[in-house]
Amino acid sequence: MTQLNRWLAPVLLAVILIQLVMAMRASDYASADPSPAKPPIAAGSGDLRTPVVVTSDQAAHVLGEMRALMAVLRDLQAARATNDAASLSAAALQGSPKGARAMPDGLRTALPADFQTMSKAMRQDFAEASQAAGNRQITTADAAVGRAMNACIACHESYRLVGR
Ligand code: HEC
Repeated sequence: MTQLNRWLAPVLLAVILIQLVMAMRASDYASADPSPAKPPIAAGSGDLRTPVVVTSDQAAHVLGEMRALMAVLRDLQAARATNDAASLSAAALQGSPKGARAMPDGLRTALPADFQTMSKAMRQDFAEASQAAGNRQITTADAAVGRAMNACIACHESYRLVGR
């Protein structure tokens, strides 16, 4: 054996071993599940809201009402910006019981009593805001809208919807 061959043999062996280890690790990655289970949204251990179990139709109804409430807040703000008491009264009416759509079958029984109490209180506050604005009592209307928004916050802190 020449001097060069004595030096080359262990180096080649080392290169082959390294390639073998790398190939094994690559096959480990390839066999790993590419999409590990994701935790459900908002169900982390820090989420203390009570889950309310509903069907997808019932959830669509509740969330549709919610998005309508955002539009009510927008319209109230626009009416305040133009100091328009009639528009303020009309916008608040949309948040009152008169602006609510009829619940789909089974939703009432799916909603906890406390959820329904908060919803009713919010609708009532909007009704009072509408009436006050109709009488041009703007600060009274503002206070009632503030109470309605406390219900938004309290309910959002308390509940989340879970699909069935
Ligand atoms: C009685 C309970 C309750 C009240 C009152 C309430 N909400 Fe909600 N709202 C919910 C629940 C429950 C959800 C769904 C939250 C979840 O699953 O994470 C929700 C979701 C929403 C959403 C998201 C809608 C979507 O399509 O995803 C908006 C916007 C919203 N609410 C606005 C409001 C506003 C504005 C008010 C007050 C004027 C309000 N809500 C009052 C219970 C309530």
